[in-house]
Amino acid sequence: MTDQHDCQKHLAEIKALREELMQAQKMSSVGALASSVTHEFNNILTTVINYAKMGLRHKNEETREKAFNKILAAGQRASKITTGMLSYARNGSDRREVMDLVELVQDVLVLVEKDLQNHRVRMQTHVEGQPVAEVNASQIQQVLLNMIINARQAMDGGGRLDIGIRANPESNCAEISIRDSGQGIPADQLRKIFDQFYTTKTVDEQGQGGTGLGLAMARDVIEAHNGRLRVDSAVGKGTTFTLKFPLAQASDVKKPTNIFRGPAATSKS
Ligand SMILES: Nc1ncnc2c1ncn2[C@@H]1O[C@H](COP(=O)(O)OP(=O)(O)OP(=O)(O)O)[C@@H](O)[C@H]1O
Ligand SMILES: [Mg+2]
Repeated sequence: MTDQHDCQKHLAEIKALREELMQAQKMSSVGALASSVTHEFNNILTTVINYAKMGLRHKNEETREKAFNKILAAGQRASKITTGMLSYARNGSDRREVMDLVELVQDVLVLVEKDLQNHRVRMQTHVEGQPVAEVNASQIQQVLLNMIINARQAMDGGGRLDIGIRANPESNCAEISIRDSGQGIPADQLRKIFDQFYTTKTVDEQGQGGTGLGLAMARDVIEAHNGRLRVDSAVGKGTTFTLKFPLAQASDVKKPTNIFRGPAATSKS
């Protein structure tokens, strides 16, 4: 009886430690984005202040309306970023839902768009079919954010980031691929990158280093989703990470509750 009790206690401790590690890795991503987000907020404030001044200066209806619209759009953009950051930083639940992966990726891109621009990374997304899967949104977003930040960090001086989101009815998979044109990963390191605490990122002047937990966590999360994770890399050319999930029925998707979006966005090719 005591043995069983001890065992349960240890399991609970391990679970709590895992959650703390997940949170530490999350904060590592937030830290990597902090400077770009702060700059973007400064730009938004500049827009708001300038259009408010313009509205006060000009009495005619048309100019004022334009000023109000600009202020509103800037405010909504700021709000979208803070809402995204806050919900990302929060400890997510364990719940899984059938989701449109395109929307899931879009929510992550809101957080990183500016950071990619600042680092001269050109990003493109490509959608095929209706990639729908049963996922824990918060966990998958953490996985994607880490992979995108990893990609950006591997492209010193800029590059290209291609994100593909596809439904593959033949293999019955919904896939997300993240391809960068960065430095690549030498063959002897490819196995290690999924090890806990394996990182090549040393602490910089801003105290930013890597936890080396991002990909270890990604592997656990994808496994728990009955999915598969694959990496292809060529030194000097770039790296591609591919996530595969069992394909779900598009008709089972719950409509998003995000107040900044109307009914499901459909920018598909
Ligand atoms: N796209 C990539 N290109 C080149 N190397 C990569 C890429 N993604 C991951 N790596 C290598 O894999 C290592 C482990 O990545 P992982 O995301 O697990 O940790 P990290 O990025 O170092 O730390 P953190 O995720 O906490 O910031 C990285 O330090 C890097 O050496
Ligand atoms: Mg990482």
